[in-house]
Formats: sequence, C-alpha cells, structure tokens
Amino acid sequence: MHNTATIGEDRRAGGESQRPGGESRGKGESRRLDIEAIRKDFPILETTVYGYPLVYLDNAATTQKPLAVLNAMDEYYRTINSNVHRGVHYLSQRATDAVEAARVTLADFINARHAYEVIFTRGTTESINLVAACFGKKFLQEGDSILVSGMEHHSNIVPWQMICEEKKATLKVIPIDENGELILDGLDEVLRGGVKLVAFNYVSNALGTINPAREIIAAAHRHGIPVLLDAAQAIQHMAVDVQDLDVDFLAFSSHKLYGPTGIGILYGKEEWLNQLPPYQGGGEMIKTVTFARTTYNDLPFKFEAGTPDMAGMIGLGAAVRYVQELGLDNIQHAEHELMGYALDVLREIKGFRLIGNVDAGHRAGVISFLVGNIHPFDMGEILDQQGIAVRTGHHCAQPIMDRYCIPGTVRASLAVYNTPAEMDRLAAGIRKAVTLLG
Ligand code: ALA
Repeated sequence: MHNTATIGEDRRAGGESQRPGGESRGKGESRRLDIEAIRKDFPILETTVYGYPLVYLDNAATTQKPLAVLNAMDEYYRTINSNVHRGVHYLSQRATDAVEAARVTLADFINARHAYEVIFTRGTTESINLVAACFGKKFLQEGDSILVSGMEHHSNIVPWQMICEEKKATLKVIPIDENGELILDGLDEVLRGGVKLVAFNYVSNALGTINPAREIIAAAHRHGIPVLLDAAQAIQHMAVDVQDLDVDFLAFSSHKLYGPTGIGILYGKEEWLNQLPPYQGGGEMIKTVTFARTTYNDLPFKFEAGTPDMAGMIGLGAAVRYVQELGLDNIQHAEHELMGYALDVLREIKGFRLIGNVDAGHRAGVISFLVGNIHPFDMGEILDQQGIAVRTGHHCAQPIMDRYCIPGTVRASLAVYNTPAEMDRLAAGIRKAVTLLG
C-alpha cells in the first residue's frame, strides 16, 4: 500500500505553517534572514551558563529545536496519539494521515520522485546500516569491494567493514589531501576494480569540506555502481535534490535539522529498494504470514518493521516545514557570511590553526581548529566555563585525525541562529584560554 497523501494534505495535517524569521516571503525569493527573530523561535537559546548567555556552537552534534517542532510533537500527543496503519478508529486514522503527510513533506524536501522512496529510520546511522546489511546480503561477494572516502564518520565506515568482513570483501578508501579535499585522481581506475557500491559524505562532520557529490556520483554511474550519500551534515546547510544529484541512496538525521532525536531518513531509488531484502522482521513489514511462508509489504513499509516513532515523524515534518519557510538558499547565504566572518576573526588569534579547507566557500557549518599546543579538551573546558558550547576530540572520525597526525580538534559548528557577536565571544574565549594555558 503506497501512501496517497498529497502535499496539500500534508500542509493541512501539519497545521498552519509558522512564519519563522518574522518576515513574509514568496517561494524562490532570495532574502536576508532576520536572525534575531529566528532566535526567538528557539527557547533554549535564552539559557544562561555559569552566568554567561549560552553560545551554542555544537550544532553538528545536534541542533536546537524551534517552537514549531516542540508544538507539533506536543499537539500530536495531546490530540491524536494512537498507533498508525492498524486501526480503523478515528485517532488511528488521524495519526496515520499525519505521519504519511510528514513522509510527503520529506519527499518534497529532497525532491524524491515518490513518497514511498522515503523510509523512516532512527537516523543516519541506522539508514547506512540498513543499506550495508541489505545491499551486502544481496549483492556483495568474496573479492568485491566497497569504496568509502577518507573523511567519513565512523557510521559510514564500520557498517561497511562489518559486511565486508562477513562477505570476505574489501573496503577501499578515497584519500584526502592536506587541504581536506578528496583526491579524485585515479578514481576511475579504482571503480573499475570490483567496486560494488560507493559511500561518502556530502559534508564532512569533522572538517566541514563540501565534497563534489555530483562528480563522484557521475563517475560511479559510468561504471554502473550505485552510490550512498551521507547527507547528515549537508541537509541543514544547503538544498539537496536527489533527482538532480541522481543519487541512489541518501541518509540523514532529523536532530541535526532542527527536528527531534531518534528519527531520520533513508531515501532510496525505487528500483534499488525493491531489489533489497527487508532489514528487520516484524509487524508492518509483511503482507501475509503463515508458519510456512511470509510475504513482504510494499515500499516503504517493507523497511519499517514495528510501531514507528510517530511523534518523531511529525516533529521532523514540522522541522522541514520550518526550514522550507526560512529557505535553504537563504540559510546557506547567512551561514556562508557567518563562516567568512568567523574565519576572519579566528585567524587573528596567534597560534590558530584551521584543520581542513582554508576556503570558506568550500566548507559548510564546521570550523575545526587547534591553537598552539593547547589540548582540544582543555580548550573545550575553558570555553565551556565562559558559556560557549563546542565539541572536542575526534568527532567519530578517527581516520581523519590519523591523517593529520593530531589527537583531535576543537570544533565550532554553526546553525542558522548563530550571530557574528557569538563569533566574537568565541574568539575572546579562545584568547582567554591562550592566556591561561598557552
Ligand atoms: N555525528 C555527530 C557529530 O559530528 C554526533 O558530532
């Protein structure tokens, strides 16, 4: 049973769309965002930490949630909570309409050809594990290989290692240069050598590099090889169009896109999803069950065993509508300006060393750095004491740290609600740390 909700139905089911940013707008119109108005949509940004106003720069780990998301989830539990796709009763039908409307919103957001190509998962990690397990089971044989890049998050390395080990296949790696860019010379030759799938991230969570996704996907397709794109760190910063990219699988999490935790998306082209075996068995993913034989449900339900996270789906739908109202092009423009400003002020600090790409135009969201000989953890603690939240360490990307021969970095990561004044606070905080520790 394919869902039949339309985008128009979705907008009704999700309630009146709010007007984040406090300004009216027309679709496709470029505009400067009112960041102060946007900040008012995020109650947590009012928090005081050790007497300082919070500066939240750990957005690559998780973003904060706007009222539109909090209210949509609250309303779900208050008014239509019930199990979906099962009941004939009123509440169950309302809940089913709402979650299927969220699926349509997601499909519209990434320009999927069909809503049933959008599978709800627990997040990017589960989406990648699903493809690794199901694709590997069906298509991977001894002597084959999977190609990943040298700047992957562990979640786009370990699932492939696991299935390669099981199938006696090999994991191959696209190397990275000193500037944090993938080295693509020789890619065609590697692809010719038994590669069955290519998996890489659109934007690196540890370096912020924007990878040339279109170029890599086209190269893989010239050899008939499908591609999984990890969009966990891209989807909140720039428009992602699966048809334009011609990508075969795409994964991202809700919680980095201003949505709730515990929910995310696997997009897959219909022709690929139909070829894969189910990931988990249980309710919802079946058509008929006897002790002799089970037949499986159609897309998307074949991959959604068990009661799904209804509130999460609805919250994610609300997050996407929030982002759509702001406009991803407008968000990208605002964040790009902020990135340029941040790099300018941070580079003035003696001993500041940016890890990865030096060009603000080739990066999104993430500023990974070291200062002199100060350990990232010590820097993180001193920033925290000043109310500034950053992440320190290897950022679940140990091979990148090995590539640069460093123990880790300090990572400041941006969202649409961050301001130049906060970048000044970060620079002042780092200078204080240098005074204390340098
Ligand atoms: N993957 C998240 C990060 O980069 C948790 O911080």
